[in-house]
Amino acid sequence: MAKSILLVHGPNLNLLGTREPALYGTTTLAEIDLEMAALATSAGASLESVQSNHEGVVIDTIHKAKRDQRDFIIINPAGFTHTSVPVRDALAAVDIPFVEVHLSNIHRREAWRRHSYFSDLAVGMVCGLGPEGYRAALRFALAHEG
Ligand code: DQA
Repeated sequence: MAKSILLVHGPNLNLLGTREPALYGTTTLAEIDLEMAALATSAGASLESVQSNHEGVVIDTIHKAKRDQRDFIIINPAGFTHTSVPVRDALAAVDIPFVEVHLSNIHRREAWRRHSYFSDLAVGMVCGLGPEGYRAALRFALAHEG
């Protein structure tokens, strides 16, 4: 069966391209999503992207991933990384393997960004590689078994 992957973007990532470009680069979210979908399709998989600035929508999206029988989640929880027990709990509840992605290196920034509510649940985490982190996560997701 074709692999089905969900890509989740947390708050403020809709502003990529113009948001603090020195930290997050100039690539827009639409460009990332288009490329990710194309890479997935060319590998015979499917990928849907969802961005929300609302915690409840992110949680509902993760719950729906279970109903949709997604095989893998790639998530940049953005600011929720450092605050959200409920988004973490949603990922634990659906029990779908996931990779956590951050465009910036959260370990080179403010001390409070070093803590993630997600990393110990994630299969893996990529940070500091800009949009390349999404490509790496997708390559991993496509090869991931089980
Ligand atoms: C981010 C890092 C977070 O600390 C921040 O709140 C974001 C983006 C990143 O992709 O580097 O919104 O997740």
